This record gives sequence, C-alpha cells and structure tokens, in this order.
Amino acid sequence: MLKTHGCGTLRASHTGESVRLAGWVHRRRDHGQLIFIDLRDRDGIVQVVVRPDDHPEAYAIANEVRGEYVLRVAGEVVGRSEATRNPNLGTGDIEVVATSVEVLNAAKTPPFSVSEDDDVNELVRLQYRYIDLRRPSMISALELRHRLNQHIRDFMTGQGFLEVETPILVAATPEGARDYVVPSRLTPGAFYALPQAPQQFKQLLMVAGVERYFQIARCFRDEDLRADRQPEFVQLDLEWSFCEEEDILGLLEELFAGLAAALRPDLTVPRPFPRLSWHEAMERYGSDKPDLRYGLELSDCSDIAATSGFGVFSSTIANGGRVRGIVMPGGASLSRREVDGFTSLAKTMGAPGLVSLQFSADPATATEDDVRSPVLRHLGIDDARRIGERCGASAGDLVLLAAGDSGMVSTVLDGIRRELARRLDLVDDSILNFGFVTDFPLVEWDEDGQRWDALHHPFTAPQSEDIGLLEGDPAAVRARAYDTICNGFELGSGSIRIHERDLQMQVFELLGVEAEEAQQRFGHMLNAFEYGAPPHGGFAFGIDRVAMLLAGTENIREVIAFPKTMSASDPMTGAPMPISDEQLDELHLQIEGSATPDAQ
Ligand code: AMO
Repeated sequence: MLKTHGCGTLRASHTGESVRLAGWVHRRRDHGQLIFIDLRDRDGIVQVVVRPDDHPEAYAIANEVRGEYVLRVAGEVVGRSEATRNPNLGTGDIEVVATSVEVLNAAKTPPFSVSEDDDVNELVRLQYRYIDLRRPSMISALELRHRLNQHIRDFMTGQGFLEVETPILVAATPEGARDYVVPSRLTPGAFYALPQAPQQFKQLLMVAGVERYFQIARCFRDEDLRADRQPEFVQLDLEWSFCEEEDILGLLEELFAGLAAALRPDLTVPRPFPRLSWHEAMERYGSDKPDLRYGLELSDCSDIAATSGFGVFSSTIANGGRVRGIVMPGGASLSRREVDGFTSLAKTMGAPGLVSLQFSADPATATEDDVRSPVLRHLGIDDARRIGERCGASAGDLVLLAAGDSGMVSTVLDGIRRELARRLDLVDDSILNFGFVTDFPLVEWDEDGQRWDALHHPFTAPQSEDIGLLEGDPAAVRARAYDTICNGFELGSGSIRIHERDLQMQVFELLGVEAEEAQQRFGHMLNAFEYGAPPHGGFAFGIDRVAMLLAGTENIREVIAFPKTMSASDPMTGAPMPISDEQLDELHLQIEGSATPDAQ
C-alpha cells in the first residue's frame, strides 16, 4: 500500500508511529532550515515537516515540489509543542516528520487555488471541476450526498421497499417539461425520450405486484434553469400499493426527520410537520411552498377595495381580480425611496405597482395626518383605516397592497414576503421547517392553450367526493396530491393514483387527450389497469434539492459533482456538441440550414 493512513485521520494517539501518507501538496512553506508541507487527501490535511540535516534527500525533493504535486511521504508522527498546536485543524496536535519524500506526479500551477476559498469564477470551476472538487468544501458536499443516499437506502429497505431500476431510453412522459430526445438508428424517424421521471414504470411495477418500490432515479427535463434546477437531476422515487395519503405522509415525515437528524443534528426540525391545504397556503402566504419559519401572513382586502373610491381597486374587483396586502412591522419609518424599492421588486414579478400605506398611529384611530400614502386622497381615511385593521397593522407599520388577477397578486406578495423576511432578519438558519401541502386542485386552466392542464400529472386521482364535479366544474376538483416543502422550497410531490381505466379515460378526456391518442400514448397503462391494478400512490423528491438544503447552499450546482451551467452545457467536456456527418446519416438526421454541420 502506498499509504497507511489518511492524512486527516492522524491524531495525538498516533504519536510515535511510523506512517506512510500519500496526497496533494495543499501548501508549502519554506522556513529556510525547515520545509513545511500541508499534505491533503480526501480525509483532510496534515502538516509534514522536512528537515535538511536528518534527511537531506527528502529535503532536496521537498524543495522542488509545488502546489498540487502528488507526493508519497514516509515519516513519524510527533506531538507538537503547546505553542505550535493548531486548534483549527483536526490533526493540529501533531505533525509528521518526514524520513522520505517521493514525487508521484508533478502538477502545473492550477487555474485557481485549492487552498484559498476565494471567489473563483464558476465557469472556470466547472471547466476544471476535477480541481474544484479537491477543495475541502466540495469534498464535504460529495460526502453529504453519499450519506444522504446511504440513509435513504437503509431507511427504505427497512420499510420493506425494493430498489428497482427502470429504463432511461423510454417513450415520452407527460411530467410537464420538454423532453430530451434520442434518435433511433434502427427505427428511422423515431425517437426515445429520456425519462422526466419513472412515473409510468413505477405504477406498472405496482400492477406487477412489487407493492413497495423505490429508486434513486436520474431524471431529465429540458426546462428553463434556475438556481435550484438542473436539466438532469436525481429523485428519490417511491411507489406503494394498498396505501393512503396518511401512510405516505407518515413515511415521509420519518424519512425527512431521520435524514435531518443524521446529517444536520445541529438544526432544529419542528414536529409534527405542519400541514396546510393548498387553498390555505395560497390564502395565507400566496405560495404553495411557503417558508414557515416566519409569519408575515397575507390579508384579503378585496371587499374593501370593491366599494373603494380608488378606481384602480374598484375596477380590479369588478374585473374579477383581488386586492391583498402584507404588513412590514416598523415599516412606517421607511423613506419614499425605500418604499419605492418594493414597488420596483413587485414590477419584476409582473405587478403594475404596489400601493403603500404607512401608519404612524394605530390604524383603528388614525387620522389623515397619521397615514402616509400616495393614494390616500383617492382611498379616503376610512378605507385606509379599514385596510390597516384588516391587515393587522399597528402604529409604525407599513402595509403593501397588490391589486390584479389572483395568481399575479399571490406571486407578487409571496416575493415581497420573502424579501421582507430577509430585511427584517426573520429567516432562522438553525431551523429546517418541513411541511406538507395537500388538497391541490386537480387541474388548472391554461389561458394560452385554452385547455385544462393537470396541476401534478394526469395519473393523479381526484378526491372521491369531487369526482362528480369532473364534468361540470373541473376547477373545483381537488386532487389526492401532496407536496413536501421546507424553508420555502418544494422538495417533492406525489399523489394517490388513478388505478381504474374508466376514471383514467375520463381525466384524459378532461385534459383534451382524445381516446385514440390516449390509447396510442398510454395504452400500456390503460391496458395494465384492466389486469388487476391495485390501488396505489407514491411520491418523489429531488435529492439535489434536499442536499442543497442540508448543505446550507442556495445553488444546486454546489452539491452536484459535475453539474451543467444555466445554459445546460458542460464547460469541462464541451457537451452538447455537434456530431459527425456519419453519425447524423446513421441516425437519419439532417441539421436544418446546414447540410454539413461542424463535425467534432
Ligand atoms: P415532480 O415533477 O414534482 O414530481 O418532481 C419531484 C421533485 O423533483 C425535483 N425536481 C427537480 N430538481 C432539480 N432540477 C429539476 N429540473 C427538477 N425538477 C423536479 C423537485 C420536485 O419536487 N413523478 C412525480 C412524482 C410522483 O407523483 O410520484 C414527479 O416527478 O424537488
């Protein structure tokens, strides 16, 4: 063996032992009579001392090495004197006095320092990811993911779930995003899709009698990327026969609470996880993934607005919209410019503007002199008071109101709420506030497509008491669907599924999928439902997102070994890239506008 110990594992208890180490030169300091090398491997860093008098050969080599050289060092573990102990380093009580140093490989000067945690351009980090991953913080992220996967496997296995792999070359799945497609060589003009999720396969496994399935599954979605989205990502995917909502939510609470306790014992996890219906979440927070670590709830002022002398308000209500507000405690002292800052933020989220009311006195008794608002003249003091009271404002508070269609008002006030929480320092990073959102609507109206879309996916079961509404009032049908949220993020979602052919056909019909198309695209599901499909339900959560949360980062790329950029490319390998004419020919493909694309 080239090494007997991991660099970072050595402790005072090893004093006096002869060790062989191998790793990278993290730092090298030349003190004239002594050379110190911080030697790093996956386990951490240890200080190696090389003395010219004792081992001149080792000293000569140590003299030549540079950062990131790969070394093998033999030596003896020696306790450090009190004065030279380093309490910041796990190995800080000892050092290794080298008897020999051997260069296993040299290294060019890296494009950025592994030892300094300075702000390196992310594109450069991704291009040289193999160097970036050497940084201790990145190694920790990889370790965290490993432990996360391990915990999931142990837990699910303990609960009697079977890990089953499902294919990657599949037929398109309707999860709501664009597919990545793979052309078929053997069937000209036909394409596979990469799975957006293993949804149909896991349901078919239930028909097959697997009863409890899970998979750490890779999923692919060609969608607009954000800080918490990647074109390929990993889910814990699970499906369970003969279960109901309560069984799944109970299992998930155990899983998430266990994960948090194992990986972040320093964080508080309030239990039982709070539950909100979708309707309640939207009313109280304007979001189906509210951050529950703080209050700042929204209030509805639509009835006051309806009869208001302020035309913007009354016409909003007359046109079917809503007026809702949020309070910033202490916000009455903000300057005009500061208040306008909120309006600018609201505009980036689609609002034409925001109405502000600053109360220097209790709204219940406020006079015109106590309220500062650009629209007070139109609104009148009576309505201003009523709004202040409705929103629960006190003396010294600011009320911000958004007017317009319900969806936009929710989006805007959700954004304002998150911003207020940041400004007011209400976001407590020592808490993981998990929660469940239930009773989602089954479908939503797609204004552009002029049709009903599944809010979750078309295999989600409607609540049995709402099935009668499928024909007459689809918007009122609640789904047997649930999400897990945490600290303002959606971690995952799932549902009890449809397992009967007739109901599935009825839902397809509602979604505008004609019987013939349903048979063509989903015939395998519809047929399977006729061969003794058990009632079943399931769930999937984003492992990358959970890793992000546990690592305390808001950038999903920090917890993925080889992530893609926001434009879905990989600066290291160059993917995606053109393919050769021969490959195109084999695949029966032509690139539009260029008969001979640049071949690589
Ligand atoms: P859904 O589409 O809600 O449900 O996805 C479940 C979870 O997967 C994660 N996720 C993503 N993570 C990173 N990048 C992405 N582009 C991305 N897209 C989704 C999220 C999300 O909550 N088949 C259903 C589940 C089911 O019904 O059982 C599904 O995939 O954390």
